[in-house]
Amino acid sequence: MRLISSRKIRDGVELARDVVHGPPGTAPLLRAGVRLSARYATLLPDAGVGSVWIHDALGEAIEVAEPLTPETRDKVHRATANALSAAGTGLRTGAGMPSAAVEALADVATAMVEDLLDCPDAALALHDLSSFDDYTHRHSVQVTVLGLLIARRAWSTDGWTDYRGRRRHDRLEDRMRKLGLGLLVHDVGKLAVPPEILNKPGRLTDEEMTVMKIHPVAGAELLRPADLSPLALSVVRDHHERIDGSGYPQGLFGPQIQDFPRIAAVADVYDAITSERVYKPAAPPHVGVRIIREGSGGQFCPTVVRHFNAVVMPYPVGHEIELPDGRIGVVAAVDVDEPDCPVVRVMSGEGFAEVKVDMTAERESVTA
Ligand SMILES: [Fe+2]
Repeated sequence: MRLISSRKIRDGVELARDVVHGPPGTAPLLRAGVRLSARYATLLPDAGVGSVWIHDALGEAIEVAEPLTPETRDKVHRATANALSAAGTGLRTGAGMPSAAVEALADVATAMVEDLLDCPDAALALHDLSSFDDYTHRHSVQVTVLGLLIARRAWSTDGWTDYRGRRRHDRLEDRMRKLGLGLLVHDVGKLAVPPEILNKPGRLTDEEMTVMKIHPVAGAELLRPADLSPLALSVVRDHHERIDGSGYPQGLFGPQIQDFPRIAAVADVYDAITSERVYKPAAPPHVGVRIIREGSGGQFCPTVVRHFNAVVMPYPVGHEIELPDGRIGVVAAVDVDEPDCPVVRVMSGEGFAEVKVDMTAERESVTA
């Protein structure tokens, strides 16, 4: 199977996975196996579905693992939708987010951690949560998956440092659950930002930016009655802080920023760049990866970026890419040690060939 932009749907293409879109419990918009017509090339992007998995000869026998099981996805979908609506009510009444909603999210974070501890490192479908119709909702879940994958890699490789400065390798799951909960609610304060600012196409004015920048503090305030752990709360409050001091709300610098928000910052920015929005198409993964790599040591923690590079491939398996020579191909495999040199399936004569391509080079290099 392979993933194509919904804008590239042509008559007769066969869907490889259901397209589920809408509130929890909604029946799939389209079922796996159905053949699409070209009109879906405008219908699906208009509905916010930026890409679809299809079956065709070019994508044959390419397998892509999903980080979450369908059961967990469904559970996450429901709990996050309920929590967002409870948070909206809590904001309007001034009562804050009810602790029951946060407890439900903590259960969901536990289910996500269990799935993610089991899943393989590479060849993961990280861009496949089109079923979440609301951007803040979808973004929260995608950032959680990505942040947890980075954390798993980082803490299982290097361990983590406790408040006494000791390097530790225990309590990995417990930390992941706390991080997961923080990531699920990291942008809940955006409910306090007027939608016309939140969804404004293009640059915000200085005044609008000032309003936008309240969301980390508004989120922490909204969560006050829920008694979140300080670690989870640090994600909400500090995910826009930057290592070089250029972030907000406090302009914290380097060591003042804890591990959790350092991971959240990378996952958050990568997902924002690679997500479809009403006013912009999704940037391809290699653009997101390049921006994160360029920010290493400046905006982003270099250690987090190093682990991000082992989790997020610039040319993910199943994605269609344009080769340096202009040909179009589908990524069939990628080696984590050579992320910029995927094995790509391309048309060749009557059939296909698989070639290893250096995407940073002017000319492709072919291996046997
Ligand atoms: Fe945010």
